[in-house]
Amino acid sequence: SREAGAGCVGPATLDDVDLRLLAEHFPTPFYAYSATAIRGRVAALREALAGLDARICFAVKANPNLGVLNLMAELGVGADIVSAGELRRSLHAGIPPERVVFSGVGKTEEEIALALAAGIWKFNVESADELRLLQRVAEGQGAIARAAVRVNPDVDAGTHEKISTGKAENKFGVSVEEARSWFAEASAYPNVRLDGLHAHIGSQILDVVPFRRALGRVAEFWRELAAAGHALDSIDVGGGLGVRYRADADRPVAVGEYAGAIRTALADFPGRIVLEPGRWLVAEAGVLVTRAIRIKPGVQRDFLVLDAAMNDLLRPALYEAWHDIVPLHAQARPPQRYDVVGPVCETGDTFARDRLLPRCEPGDLLLIAGAGAYGASMGSTYNSRPLPAEVLLDRGRYALVRRRQTFEEMVATEQLAQDWQRP
Ligand code: LLP
Repeated sequence: SREAGAGCVGPATLDDVDLRLLAEHFPTPFYAYSATAIRGRVAALREALAGLDARICFAVKANPNLGVLNLMAELGVGADIVSAGELRRSLHAGIPPERVVFSGVGKTEEEIALALAAGIWKFNVESADELRLLQRVAEGQGAIARAAVRVNPDVDAGTHEKISTGKAENKFGVSVEEARSWFAEASAYPNVRLDGLHAHIGSQILDVVPFRRALGRVAEFWRELAAAGHALDSIDVGGGLGVRYRADADRPVAVGEYAGAIRTALADFPGRIVLEPGRWLVAEAGVLVTRAIRIKPGVQRDFLVLDAAMNDLLRPALYEAWHDIVPLHAQARPPQRYDVVGPVCETGDTFARDRLLPRCEPGDLLLIAGAGAYGASMGSTYNSRPLPAEVLLDRGRYALVRRRQTFEEMVATEQLAQDWQRP
């Protein structure tokens, strides 16, 4: 049997599971993730980092499903979290707190208190206000918080502007000048052990040069700090490694080249190197399985109307992102051009424009590839469409890791306005 995603006609399998058989068990649309593919990515990254004291902290936002996080836990992978919710998911899935790092510009006092009490490994601090708050919360708990400064290296990652984070004008991190002053005043924060650096310049980066630049700036700063007597125990290089969304066009950075850039920049760093990959570990391991509802003739070309929509997979609508679409037909069919759309009432609910596909008919199954990262995690119930099921696949077997939401669950927290009160 051939692998789904290769754009071929024939048995469509992912992790040795026939997706057409799976679609008899679960209503479409649903997500399917290959555990084998995820394990393969973790192993490949580890191999590329062999010999380094490196820790992989999966960026939970990419795929926070408990089944996926539990797989990460089993593999010894930690978590990069950005909210109390992601902390609780990570711990619930079995990721030990000492493998958790906490990033984000808007950590609240409650979130910081929760994470500190849970005993997370490191806070990636992004502002002076947050540093003062961390000191106050840690003092209140009689604890010492371990912290890294997130520096903004002012590097253009060359990616979509909505997911670029390392330019000076972006909201993330602080300048090297500001970070320098924090280290100089470290004694003003007795409950914070400021002993790390962190940088994350963006996501879906397809060129090694921005990584090299950012790593170079971080390394230069670490050397300066070391010379001034500030010993660091960790450098967190963030995430951002891009993946292949377009089988025939995208040329991602090879993991060995990426690891090589880290090795070169941080060759003599005596502490631990932290990586926060999200997309690279899971994107290509996942697909969204969907069915054609109907073919609607259009002025320019036919619309292929799917039962998946922008509420299930937002990336095409939000970033005009390309995702390969593969019909799971049993027989060869002549090619035809389609605008591939969902049922949601917005023109932006478009997965692909003018896409050449084998001719489709109502009821046909298709998969949308590269859906394992920022797919389910960015889903919503827009148009009152329930959150779809998620299924983990592993060498011919499947396990449901989220069932489709029911209507009752969708409205469970709502009620009619009856009990009117004054604040
Ligand atoms: N670390 C930090 C601090 C981050 O902000 C992010 C992603 C990551 C790590 C993981 O980056 P990755 O390895 O996945 O590129 N929704 C967008 C992506 C947003 C990424 C936000 N931050 C998309 O669908 O393309």
